[in-house]
Amino acid sequence: MKIAILASEGAPYVKSGGLGDVMEALPAALSRIEGNEVFLMLPYYKKIKENPKYSVELVAQLQVELGWRKQYAGIMRLTNRDDAVTVYFIDSEYYFGAREGAIYGEGDDGERFAFFSKACLDGMVAMGLIPDVIQCNDWQCGMVPTYLKAMYRPMFPDTKCMYTIHNIEYQGWADAHFFDDVLQLPWEYRSCLDMNGAVNVMKAAIETCDMVTTVSESYARELMYPYYAHGLDSVIAGNAWKLTGITNGIDVNTFNPETDPALPAHYNAETFRKGKAECKAALQKELGLPVRPDVPLMVMVTRLAGHKGLDLLCYIARRLLSEENVQIAILGTGEAQYESFFRGLAAEYPEQVSAKITFNLALASRMYAGGDIYMMPSKSEPCGLSQMNAMHYGTVPVVHATGGLRDTVPGVDDHGLNGLGYSFQSYNGDDFLWALKRCLSLYENDRPAFENLQHRGMTTDFSWNVPAGKYMELFRSMCQK
Ligand code: GLC
Repeated sequence: MKIAILASEGAPYVKSGGLGDVMEALPAALSRIEGNEVFLMLPYYKKIKENPKYSVELVAQLQVELGWRKQYAGIMRLTNRDDAVTVYFIDSEYYFGAREGAIYGEGDDGERFAFFSKACLDGMVAMGLIPDVIQCNDWQCGMVPTYLKAMYRPMFPDTKCMYTIHNIEYQGWADAHFFDDVLQLPWEYRSCLDMNGAVNVMKAAIETCDMVTTVSESYARELMYPYYAHGLDSVIAGNAWKLTGITNGIDVNTFNPETDPALPAHYNAETFRKGKAECKAALQKELGLPVRPDVPLMVMVTRLAGHKGLDLLCYIARRLLSEENVQIAILGTGEAQYESFFRGLAAEYPEQVSAKITFNLALASRMYAGGDIYMMPSKSEPCGLSQMNAMHYGTVPVVHATGGLRDTVPGVDDHGLNGLGYSFQSYNGDDFLWALKRCLSLYENDRPAFENLQHRGMTTDFSWNVPAGKYMELFRSMCQK
C-alpha cells in the first residue's frame, strides 16, 4: 500500500511534543510492513534547513495558489535516511525557511499551514506520487481532507484520507474572511468550515475525511463529551461512525534503557535493580539532591502547561513533602506561574526538591531511568507517551485515569498485584495525593511487590508493532469502500 503521512512536525528533524515522536515512529513502523511504501511530508523549517546532518535534493518546484496569492514551493527529498521511509520537505522561504521563531505561534499560522497542506497535495501531483491513503495530523494538516474532497478528486480518484487528532484543544480557528481570502474553496464548503461565524479547520477535517482517528481508545470516547471536546462534541458525535481510537506506542529502539547513550548505567528487565540504583544515585547527584538510595525519588518530565495537572501538584506539594520522606524532581518549561512555583519550592526544600526549568532530552532520559515513581496527573491526555517511557525504564506511574493514561496504566490492586501503576478517577489534589501515598506505601512496605510492578512495566510491549497493525486494518477497510 502506498501511504502518505503529513504532519507539521516529526522527530528527529523537528519536534515540539508528542506529535513529533509519533511522526518518527509510526512511519517507520508502517514502512516495515511488507508491501508498504511510506512517505512523510514535513515543512522545511529553518532549523532543518540549517542542520548540516540532513542532505536533500530538489525534486519538484511548484506555484501554490492560496486565494489571490501564488507562492513558490520546492519539494526537497531527504537523501540520507537509512530506512524505507522517504521524507519530503516542503520548502518555502516565505512561510518556513526565513522564520526565526519556534515552529508554531506566528501570526499567520493559519495561512502557513493551509499553504503546507495544499503544497503537499500539489507536490504529490507534480511527482506523480498518488497514494492509496493519506494520513494527516492535527489542525495544521486539517485542510488536506477538505481540499482533497473539494478540489483534488480528479487527480486523486481513489485516495482515501485519514485524519488523526492528537489534541482537540488546538483546532485552527480563523476569522470568517479567511475562507475567501486564503482558502479559496467552492462556496458550498462555507458551512463545513463555519463554526459560530468563524472558520474552524479541524471541524471541516472531521467532516470531510474518510476516517477520523485519535490516539487512544478512551480519548475517542471522551471526545463525545463537552468537557473534553472543546466545543467540537456535537461535530464528533455526528461523525462517531467513522471515529476510532488507536493507542500510540513508543519508539522502543530510541527509548531503550539497555542502549540509551544518555544514561550512566544500562539495564534491562532482569538487571534493573542494580542498573536503576546506579542511575538514581547519579541523578540525585546531578540534580543536587542528597544521594539517598532509600528515599523514593518522584519525577515528572512535562511541558509546564495547565492541562498537565500541575495545579494538583502545586496544591499537594507541601503536604506531600512534609508528610512523606520523598524527593521530587521536575523537568520542563512552560507557563510562568508554574515555572516560578517550582523554582520557589526547590529553594524552600533544597534537600527534597529539584526543578530544572529547561528542555533537555538527555536529562529526561536520566529522569525516566533514575526515578522510582513517575507523576502524570494530566487533566486530559489524548495519549501521553512519557508514562510509557517511564514504565519501559522501570519507573512506576501515578496518573489521572483519563485518555491514554487510563488505557496504558491499568491500576494495581491492594496487594500490589496486577496492573502497571496507580491512578485516581476524579480530578482533584486529594485523590492524587491518595494515589501517590498508595504507591509510596508499596515502595516502603513491600519492596518485592514494588519490584514486580517495575518488572511488569518493563516487560509490557509498548512498541509500535500493535498500533501500526491497527492503522493498517483501518487503511485496508477505507480502501475497500
Ligand atoms: C499530543 C497529546 C498527547 C499525545 C501526543 C501524541 O501531544 O497531547 O497526549 O501523546 O499528541 O499523539
